[in-house]
Amino acid sequence: MRASHLEDFYSFLRLPSVSTDDNYSEKLTECAHWVVEKLTNIGLEARLVPTPGHPVVWGKNKHKPGRRTVLIYGHYDVQPPDPLELWDSPPFEPVLKDGFVFARGSTDNKGQILSHMLGVQEALEKDGDLPVNVHFVIEGEEEIGSGNLGNFLHENREALKSDVALVSDTGMIAPGVPTMSYGLRGVTALELKVRGPAIDLHSGIYGGAVMNPATALAHILASLHDKDGHVVIPGFYDDVQPLEEWERQAWRKIPVEADKELLKETGAPELFGEKGYSSLERIWARPTAEINGLGGGYQGQGTKTVIPSEAMAKLTFRLVPNQDGDKILKLARKHLQAHTPPGVKVEMVDGHSGPWYLTDPHAAFGEAAQRALKNTFSREVALIREGGSIPIISEFRRQLGVETLLIGLALPGCRAHSPNESFPLENLDAGIRMNKAVLHEIAA
Ligand code: BES
Ligand code: MN
Repeated sequence: MRASHLEDFYSFLRLPSVSTDDNYSEKLTECAHWVVEKLTNIGLEARLVPTPGHPVVWGKNKHKPGRRTVLIYGHYDVQPPDPLELWDSPPFEPVLKDGFVFARGSTDNKGQILSHMLGVQEALEKDGDLPVNVHFVIEGEEEIGSGNLGNFLHENREALKSDVALVSDTGMIAPGVPTMSYGLRGVTALELKVRGPAIDLHSGIYGGAVMNPATALAHILASLHDKDGHVVIPGFYDDVQPLEEWERQAWRKIPVEADKELLKETGAPELFGEKGYSSLERIWARPTAEINGLGGGYQGQGTKTVIPSEAMAKLTFRLVPNQDGDKILKLARKHLQAHTPPGVKVEMVDGHSGPWYLTDPHAAFGEAAQRALKNTFSREVALIREGGSIPIISEFRRQLGVETLLIGLALPGCRAHSPNESFPLENLDAGIRMNKAVLHEIAA
């Protein structure tokens, strides 16, 4: 690894670009400027495009007629580093340990998108040109649902005309195993507030005479699943495309011991999920309802005899083909309302939303990417779907008419969104070589 590549990686990681928290907005702009400068330094024409939220960075090489055009997408924003006390080293002070760089955003997505920038840098240094026309679109709102990027695509849809999109923001099934994902789950969010008494009450003076909002919330949330892990919102599975036998068989042949791996990565005492499906099937092809946050009442040390005046929960639903986010939110609201006990009022606010994605890995560009991956890693390519979501991918299809090649570099155990996130330098290096190879194959 070149020292300058490592320096780039560290400077990128030192910028705390936490998109969800307003306190960081200047840092996001600073980070966007860093990306503009990096792209400019390697010889691209790059600019910062303001949005009502965090800026988009748009960079391109000198486009020539008769060449294919590739849109390379990634994000410079990161998830909050919380809980801070669980990090072994500060989240925005990258450290290298046993070949892994530890920092928030190292895997998701700075290491991965940087490998594309560095791949282009090396190609330009060596050949003075790229085999294709390239657009870099690197945004700062992926982790909050890409609310403003759709508009950017729409406004610039003529200028952004491309043949294919390239994204490294997904995973590899194991170290050294090149992986192409042909599907992502969608996600849609809902926040729930349960209101009871006007103020927090003494639980002795009033307890028994009013409904406790925390108890009500527990009822409501418990109504989401049955004991076999099915979501019991009426109509929830109506539009779910059943898993096909060929896909189930293909996934059984994937050369990893998924359950063993998952137990290790998660540290959960045992695995649990919807009855009738394997873990990979549950993650890649089945929808879920998750509680992401839950609060209400006294959370401090010791006890407090109180009836909280309100309680809240943050929910998300992961979606699969052919579920529709708005429809699922409607069904969920109706169900949650129906399971609200008397004596409280419930308020629901919709959050971000992003559709699922499914593409044909055997289309021409998919095959081109697989040749490049196979050559880069000298191994057969694993074809998988993913449980995570990248909200804008379906817009590339809808607005620009292009399919997306998902060629991720995250490793199992990279701890994206968790404390001690890391990215192996080996994959930064492989990503650089992969970028060059893929652009070459797409050009051919
Ligand atoms: N890189 C992830 C998505 C991902 C992770 C795809 C693992 C496949 C495997 C992305 O940055 C992400 O975390 N997306 C969010 C989107 C949401 C906040 C709208 C997600 O999936 O929770
Ligand atoms: Mn993420």
